[in-house]
Amino acid sequence: MHKKLWIPGPTEVKEEVLKQQAKPLFGHRSKNFTELYDSVLTQLREFFKTEQHVLVLTASGTLFMDIAARNLVRPDGKALCCVNGSFSSRMYDAIDGSGKEAELFEVEWGKAVTVDMIKEKVEATKYDIVTVCYNETSTGVKADLKAIGDLLKNYPETLLVVDAVSSMGGDMLLPDEWGTDLVFASTQKCFALPPGLAVGIVSQAALDRAKEVPDKGLYINLEKILGYYEKKKQTPSTPNISLLFALDYKLKEMLAEGAENIYKRHKEMADYTHEWALKHGFGLFAEEGYRSVTVTTVDNRVKNLDVDALNKALGEKGLVIANGYGPFKGKNFRIGHMGDHTVEGLKELLSAIEEIWGL
Ligand SMILES: Cc1ncc(COP(=O)(O)O)c(C=O)c1O
Repeated sequence: MHKKLWIPGPTEVKEEVLKQQAKPLFGHRSKNFTELYDSVLTQLREFFKTEQHVLVLTASGTLFMDIAARNLVRPDGKALCCVNGSFSSRMYDAIDGSGKEAELFEVEWGKAVTVDMIKEKVEATKYDIVTVCYNETSTGVKADLKAIGDLLKNYPETLLVVDAVSSMGGDMLLPDEWGTDLVFASTQKCFALPPGLAVGIVSQAALDRAKEVPDKGLYINLEKILGYYEKKKQTPSTPNISLLFALDYKLKEMLAEGAENIYKRHKEMADYTHEWALKHGFGLFAEEGYRSVTVTTVDNRVKNLDVDALNKALGEKGLVIANGYGPFKGKNFRIGHMGDHTVEGLKELLSAIEEIWGL
Protein backbone atom coordinates (compact mmCIF):
# COMPACT_ATOMS: atom_id res chain seq x y z
CA MET A 1 0.00 0.00 0.00
CA HIS A 2 1.22 3.48 -0.80
CA LYS A 3 1.91 5.53 2.30
CA LYS A 4 1.03 9.20 1.88
CA LEU A 5 4.23 11.14 2.49
CA TRP A 6 3.98 13.49 5.45
CA ILE A 7 7.75 13.46 5.77
CA PRO A 8 9.78 16.60 5.06
CA GLY A 9 10.77 15.39 1.62
CA PRO A 10 10.40 13.69 -0.64
CA THR A 11 6.81 14.76 -0.38
CA GLU A 12 3.66 13.46 -2.01
CA VAL A 13 3.55 13.80 -5.82
CA LYS A 14 0.19 13.91 -7.58
CA GLU A 15 -0.49 11.34 -10.25
CA GLU A 16 -1.03 13.90 -12.99
CA VAL A 17 2.39 15.37 -12.21
CA LEU A 18 4.00 11.92 -12.23
CA LYS A 19 2.39 11.27 -15.61
CA GLN A 20 4.09 14.30 -17.15
CA GLN A 21 7.31 12.33 -17.02
CA ALA A 22 5.92 9.74 -19.42
CA LYS A 23 5.78 12.20 -22.34
CA PRO A 24 7.86 11.26 -25.39
CA LEU A 25 11.33 12.76 -25.32
CA PHE A 26 13.09 15.09 -27.70
CA GLY A 27 16.75 15.97 -28.01
CA HIS A 28 18.28 18.50 -25.65
CA ARG A 29 19.66 20.42 -28.63
CA SER A 30 16.25 20.75 -30.27
CA LYS A 31 14.00 23.78 -30.52
CA ASN A 32 11.45 21.86 -28.44
CA PHE A 33 13.91 21.65 -25.60
CA THR A 34 14.82 25.34 -25.83
CA GLU A 35 11.12 26.15 -25.52
CA LEU A 36 10.65 23.80 -22.58
CA TYR A 37 13.68 25.07 -20.65
CA ASP A 38 12.84 28.69 -21.37
CA SER A 39 9.26 28.12 -20.23
CA VAL A 40 10.51 26.62 -16.95
CA LEU A 41 12.96 29.48 -16.29
CA THR A 42 10.46 32.18 -17.26
CA GLN A 43 7.88 30.74 -14.87
CA LEU A 44 10.44 30.48 -12.07
CA ARG A 45 11.38 34.13 -12.58
CA GLU A 46 7.73 35.10 -12.49
CA PHE A 47 6.94 33.04 -9.40
CA PHE A 48 9.89 34.39 -7.42
CA LYS A 49 9.51 37.93 -8.85
CA THR A 50 13.15 37.90 -9.83
CA GLU A 51 15.31 39.34 -12.56
CA GLN A 52 18.29 37.35 -11.37
CA HIS A 53 19.82 34.42 -13.26
CA VAL A 54 17.86 31.19 -12.84
CA LEU A 55 19.09 27.70 -13.54
CA VAL A 56 17.82 24.15 -13.15
CA LEU A 57 20.39 21.40 -12.68
CA THR A 58 19.96 17.69 -13.07
CA ALA A 59 21.10 17.03 -9.54
CA SER A 60 19.76 17.20 -6.03
CA GLY A 61 20.06 20.45 -4.09
CA THR A 62 23.29 19.46 -2.36
CA LEU A 63 25.19 20.12 -5.59
CA PHE A 64 24.58 23.83 -5.03
CA MET A 65 26.63 23.59 -1.84
CA ASP A 66 29.62 22.52 -3.95
CA ILE A 67 28.74 25.28 -6.41
CA ALA A 68 28.87 27.87 -3.61
CA ALA A 69 32.23 26.53 -2.44
CA ARG A 70 33.87 26.35 -5.84
CA ASN A 71 32.40 29.48 -7.45
CA LEU A 72 31.82 32.06 -4.76
CA VAL A 73 34.70 31.78 -2.29
CA ARG A 74 38.02 33.21 -3.49
CA PRO A 75 41.15 31.11 -2.93
CA ASP A 76 42.23 33.53 -0.20
CA GLY A 77 38.66 34.29 0.90
CA LYS A 78 36.63 33.02 3.77
CA ALA A 79 33.08 31.74 4.29
CA LEU A 80 30.96 32.21 7.38
CA CYS A 81 28.80 29.11 7.75
CA CYS A 82 25.82 29.55 10.07
CA VAL A 83 25.01 26.13 11.47
CA ASN A 84 22.00 25.08 13.53
CA GLY A 85 21.32 21.56 12.36
CA SER A 86 22.35 18.79 10.02
CA PHE A 87 21.82 20.48 6.64
CA SER A 88 23.49 23.76 7.52
CA SER A 89 26.35 21.64 8.83
CA ARG A 90 26.51 19.93 5.44
CA MET A 91 27.06 23.32 3.82
CA TYR A 92 30.04 23.89 6.11
CA ASP A 93 31.37 20.45 5.11
CA ALA A 94 31.05 21.34 1.41
CA ILE A 95 33.05 24.53 1.76
CA ASP A 96 35.60 23.15 4.15
CA GLY A 97 35.95 20.05 1.95
CA SER A 98 36.67 22.16 -1.12
CA GLY A 99 39.87 23.45 0.46
CA LYS A 100 38.44 26.95 0.97
CA GLU A 101 38.46 28.55 4.40
CA ALA A 102 35.18 28.07 6.24
CA GLU A 103 34.35 29.42 9.68
CA LEU A 104 31.86 27.32 11.56
CA PHE A 105 29.40 29.47 13.49
CA GLU A 106 27.21 27.10 15.39
CA VAL A 107 24.21 27.47 17.66
CA GLU A 108 22.29 24.76 19.48
CA TRP A 109 19.88 22.63 17.40
CA GLY A 110 16.36 24.05 17.67
CA LYS A 111 17.66 27.62 17.85
CA ALA A 112 18.02 30.16 15.04
CA VAL A 113 21.14 31.96 13.94
CA THR A 114 19.82 35.50 14.34
CA VAL A 115 20.57 38.61 12.34
CA ASP A 116 22.25 40.17 15.39
CA MET A 117 24.64 37.24 15.66
CA ILE A 118 25.53 37.55 11.99
CA LYS A 119 25.91 41.32 12.31
CA GLU A 120 28.53 40.88 14.99
CA LYS A 121 30.48 38.44 12.78
CA VAL A 122 30.41 40.51 9.58
CA GLU A 123 31.33 43.69 11.45
CA ALA A 124 34.48 41.99 12.73
CA THR A 125 35.60 39.98 9.67
CA LYS A 126 35.41 40.29 5.90
CA TYR A 127 33.72 37.21 4.43
CA ASP A 128 33.29 36.27 0.78
CA ILE A 129 30.04 34.53 1.60
CA VAL A 130 27.68 33.94 4.49
CA THR A 131 25.76 30.68 4.30
CA VAL A 132 22.33 30.36 5.87
CA CYS A 133 19.81 27.55 5.88
CA TYR A 134 16.41 29.19 5.35
CA ASN A 135 14.57 26.16 6.69
CA GLU A 136 16.61 23.68 8.75
CA THR A 137 14.69 20.48 8.02
CA SER A 138 16.42 18.57 10.81
CA THR A 139 15.00 20.90 13.47
CA GLY A 140 12.10 22.83 11.92
CA VAL A 141 13.80 26.20 12.44
CA LYS A 142 13.49 28.90 9.83
CA ALA A 143 15.83 31.84 9.48
CA ASP A 144 14.73 35.47 9.31
CA LEU A 145 16.08 35.63 5.79
CA LYS A 146 14.69 39.06 4.95
CA ALA A 147 16.45 40.62 7.94
CA ILE A 148 19.70 38.81 7.13
CA GLY A 149 19.45 39.96 3.52
CA ASP A 150 18.82 43.55 4.62
CA LEU A 151 21.88 43.41 6.88
CA LEU A 152 24.14 42.06 4.15
CA LYS A 153 23.08 44.81 1.73
CA ASN A 154 25.51 46.92 3.80
CA TYR A 155 28.33 44.49 2.93
CA PRO A 156 28.27 44.20 -0.87
CA GLU A 157 31.49 42.15 -0.94
CA THR A 158 29.80 39.48 1.18
CA LEU A 159 27.43 37.29 -0.80
CA LEU A 160 24.41 35.67 0.83
CA VAL A 161 24.16 31.95 0.04
CA VAL A 162 20.88 30.34 1.06
CA ASP A 163 19.89 26.71 1.29
CA ALA A 164 16.14 26.92 0.70
CA VAL A 165 15.83 23.22 -0.15
CA SER A 166 12.83 22.58 2.07
CA SER A 167 11.06 25.94 1.79
CA MET A 168 11.47 27.39 -1.72
CA GLY A 169 8.01 27.36 -3.28
CA GLY A 170 6.28 26.89 0.10
CA ASP A 171 7.48 29.72 2.32
CA MET A 172 7.86 33.27 1.00
CA LEU A 173 11.05 33.94 -0.91
CA LEU A 174 11.84 37.20 -2.69
CA PRO A 175 15.45 36.98 -3.87
CA ASP A 176 15.63 40.47 -5.43
CA GLU A 177 13.92 42.33 -2.60
CA TRP A 178 15.75 40.43 0.13
CA GLY A 179 19.13 40.57 -1.62
CA THR A 180 20.07 36.90 -1.80
CA ASP A 181 22.99 35.99 -4.09
CA LEU A 182 22.57 32.24 -4.43
CA VAL A 183 19.43 30.53 -3.24
CA PHE A 184 18.71 26.94 -4.14
CA ALA A 185 16.26 24.06 -3.66
CA SER A 186 15.51 20.50 -4.68
CA THR A 187 12.33 19.56 -6.52
CA GLN A 188 11.20 16.84 -4.09
CA LYS A 189 10.14 19.29 -1.38
CA CYS A 190 7.77 22.23 -1.87
CA PHE A 191 7.64 21.82 -5.66
CA ALA A 192 6.00 18.43 -4.97
CA LEU A 193 7.92 16.68 -7.74
CA PRO A 194 10.14 13.62 -7.67
CA PRO A 195 13.77 14.22 -6.67
CA GLY A 196 16.35 14.82 -9.38
CA LEU A 197 16.32 18.51 -10.23
CA ALA A 198 17.76 21.46 -8.35
CA VAL A 199 16.65 25.05 -8.84
CA GLY A 200 19.03 27.95 -8.26
CA ILE A 201 18.63 31.74 -8.35
CA VAL A 202 21.89 33.62 -8.81
CA SER A 203 22.54 37.35 -8.51
CA GLN A 204 24.72 39.26 -10.96
CA ALA A 205 27.15 39.88 -8.09
CA ALA A 206 27.44 36.12 -7.59
CA LEU A 207 28.08 35.56 -11.29
CA ASP A 208 30.70 38.33 -11.28
CA ARG A 209 32.36 36.67 -8.31
CA ALA A 210 32.36 33.31 -10.12
CA LYS A 211 34.14 34.94 -13.07
CA GLU A 212 36.90 36.00 -10.73
CA VAL A 213 37.35 32.66 -8.94
CA PRO A 214 39.62 30.03 -10.58
CA ASP A 215 39.30 26.21 -10.65
CA LYS A 216 35.54 25.91 -10.76
CA GLY A 217 35.45 22.48 -12.34
CA LEU A 218 33.03 21.64 -15.14
CA TYR A 219 29.57 20.42 -14.13
CA ILE A 220 29.44 22.93 -11.28
CA ASN A 221 30.94 25.91 -13.10
CA LEU A 222 28.34 28.69 -12.80
CA GLU A 223 30.02 30.81 -15.44
CA LYS A 224 29.82 27.95 -17.97
CA ILE A 225 26.25 26.95 -17.09
CA LEU A 226 24.85 30.49 -17.19
CA GLY A 227 27.01 31.42 -20.19
CA TYR A 228 25.67 28.44 -22.13
CA TYR A 229 22.10 29.46 -21.35
CA GLU A 230 22.85 33.04 -22.38
CA LYS A 231 24.13 31.87 -25.76
CA LYS A 232 21.95 28.86 -26.55
CA LYS A 233 19.02 28.92 -24.08
CA GLN A 234 19.92 25.32 -23.21
CA THR A 235 21.94 23.39 -20.63
CA PRO A 236 25.61 22.47 -21.22
CA SER A 237 24.98 18.74 -20.67
CA THR A 238 21.97 16.43 -21.07
CA PRO A 239 19.33 17.30 -18.49
CA ASN A 240 16.52 15.17 -17.09
CA ILE A 241 13.99 16.24 -19.70
CA SER A 242 11.24 14.04 -18.22
CA LEU A 243 11.44 15.86 -14.91
CA LEU A 244 11.54 19.20 -16.67
CA PHE A 245 8.15 18.31 -18.23
CA ALA A 246 6.84 17.76 -14.73
CA LEU A 247 8.39 20.99 -13.41
CA ASP A 248 6.96 22.98 -16.30
CA TYR A 249 3.49 21.57 -15.55
CA LYS A 250 3.84 22.13 -11.80
CA LEU A 251 4.97 25.74 -12.19
CA LYS A 252 1.79 26.51 -14.13
CA GLU A 253 -0.19 25.23 -11.14
CA MET A 254 1.95 27.16 -8.69
CA LEU A 255 1.53 30.39 -10.64
CA ALA A 256 -2.23 29.85 -10.80
CA GLU A 257 -2.40 29.43 -7.02
CA GLY A 258 0.05 32.29 -6.46
CA ALA A 259 3.09 32.53 -4.19
CA GLU A 260 1.25 34.38 -1.43
CA ASN A 261 -1.65 31.91 -1.34
CA ILE A 262 0.78 29.00 -1.29
CA TYR A 263 2.57 30.62 1.64
CA LYS A 264 -0.76 31.16 3.44
CA ARG A 265 -1.72 27.51 2.93
CA HIS A 266 1.62 26.39 4.39
CA LYS A 267 1.37 28.81 7.32
CA GLU A 268 -2.13 27.56 8.07
CA MET A 269 -0.88 23.96 8.09
CA ALA A 270 2.02 24.92 10.38
CA ASP A 271 -0.24 26.87 12.78
CA TYR A 272 -2.71 24.00 12.90
CA THR A 273 0.04 21.47 13.67
CA HIS A 274 1.60 23.71 16.33
CA GLU A 275 -1.75 24.15 18.11
CA TRP A 276 -2.45 20.43 17.86
CA ALA A 277 0.93 19.52 19.38
CA LEU A 278 0.59 21.96 22.28
CA LYS A 279 -3.03 20.94 22.93
CA HIS A 280 -1.91 17.34 23.37
CA GLY A 281 0.92 18.17 25.75
CA PHE A 282 3.86 17.98 23.34
CA GLY A 283 6.40 20.74 22.92
CA LEU A 284 7.65 22.45 19.79
CA PHE A 285 11.34 21.92 19.21
CA ALA A 286 11.96 25.07 17.18
CA GLU A 287 12.51 28.35 18.97
CA GLU A 288 9.43 30.60 19.05
CA GLY A 289 9.49 33.23 16.32
CA TYR A 290 11.57 31.01 14.05
CA ARG A 291 9.21 28.12 13.34
CA SER A 292 9.12 26.63 9.87
CA VAL A 293 5.93 26.74 7.83
CA THR A 294 6.82 23.58 5.88
CA VAL A 295 7.93 21.18 8.62
CA THR A 296 6.91 20.97 12.25
CA THR A 297 9.29 19.30 14.67
CA VAL A 298 7.27 18.10 17.65
CA ASP A 299 9.18 17.72 20.89
CA ASN A 300 8.25 14.31 22.28
CA ARG A 301 10.54 14.41 25.33
CA VAL A 302 7.86 15.04 27.97
CA LYS A 303 5.40 12.38 26.77
CA ASN A 304 8.09 10.09 25.39
CA LEU A 305 5.71 8.11 23.15
CA ASP A 306 7.03 5.45 20.75
CA VAL A 307 7.51 7.13 17.35
CA ASP A 308 8.57 3.96 15.51
CA ALA A 309 5.46 2.14 16.74
CA LEU A 310 3.36 5.13 15.67
CA ASN A 311 4.79 5.06 12.18
CA LYS A 312 4.18 1.33 11.90
CA ALA A 313 0.52 1.85 12.81
CA LEU A 314 0.24 4.88 10.52
CA GLY A 315 1.68 2.72 7.73
CA GLU A 316 -1.27 0.38 8.06
CA LYS A 317 -3.51 3.38 7.40
CA GLY A 318 -1.46 4.44 4.36
CA LEU A 319 0.35 7.31 6.09
CA VAL A 320 3.91 8.06 7.18
CA ILE A 321 5.62 10.83 9.17
CA ALA A 322 9.31 11.31 10.01
CA ASN A 323 11.12 10.45 13.19
CA GLY A 324 13.36 13.01 14.89
CA TYR A 325 16.58 13.69 13.01
CA GLY A 326 19.89 12.08 14.01
CA PRO A 327 20.48 12.56 17.75
CA PHE A 328 16.81 13.49 18.20
CA LYS A 329 15.41 10.19 16.91
CA GLY A 330 12.59 9.21 19.27
CA LYS A 331 12.89 12.51 21.13
CA ASN A 332 11.21 14.43 18.31
CA PHE A 333 8.99 13.58 15.43
CA ARG A 334 8.59 15.64 12.30
CA ILE A 335 5.58 16.31 10.12
CA GLY A 336 6.33 17.60 6.64
CA HIS A 337 3.40 19.74 5.50
CA MET A 338 4.68 20.97 2.19
CA GLY A 339 3.96 20.91 -1.51
CA ASP A 340 0.38 19.98 -2.37
CA HIS A 341 -0.69 19.12 1.17
CA THR A 342 -3.72 20.88 2.66
CA VAL A 343 -5.17 21.50 6.12
CA GLU A 344 -7.92 18.95 5.33
CA GLY A 345 -5.37 16.22 4.70
CA LEU A 346 -3.42 17.27 7.76
CA LYS A 347 -6.53 16.94 9.94
CA GLU A 348 -6.88 13.34 8.76
CA LEU A 349 -3.26 12.61 9.60
CA LEU A 350 -3.47 14.19 13.05
CA SER A 351 -6.73 12.36 13.82
CA ALA A 352 -5.02 9.10 12.89
CA ILE A 353 -2.17 9.91 15.30
CA GLU A 354 -4.70 10.75 18.04
CA GLU A 355 -6.45 7.44 17.49
CA ILE A 356 -3.26 5.37 17.49
CA TRP A 357 -1.81 7.01 20.59
CA GLY A 358 -5.17 7.46 22.32
CA LEU A 359 -4.63 11.21 22.74
C1 LIG B 1 17.52 22.02 4.25
C2 LIG B 1 18.06 20.94 3.38
N1 LIG B 1 19.20 21.16 2.73
C3 LIG B 1 19.74 20.23 1.92
C4 LIG B 1 19.14 19.01 1.74
C5 LIG B 1 19.72 18.03 0.81
O1 LIG B 1 18.94 18.01 -0.32
P1 LIG B 1 19.14 16.91 -1.45
O2 LIG B 1 19.04 15.60 -0.77
O3 LIG B 1 18.02 17.20 -2.39
O4 LIG B 1 20.48 17.15 -2.05
C6 LIG B 1 17.95 18.73 2.41
C7 LIG B 1 17.31 17.41 2.27
O5 LIG B 1 16.45 17.03 3.02
C8 LIG B 1 17.40 19.72 3.24
O6 LIG B 1 16.25 19.49 3.88
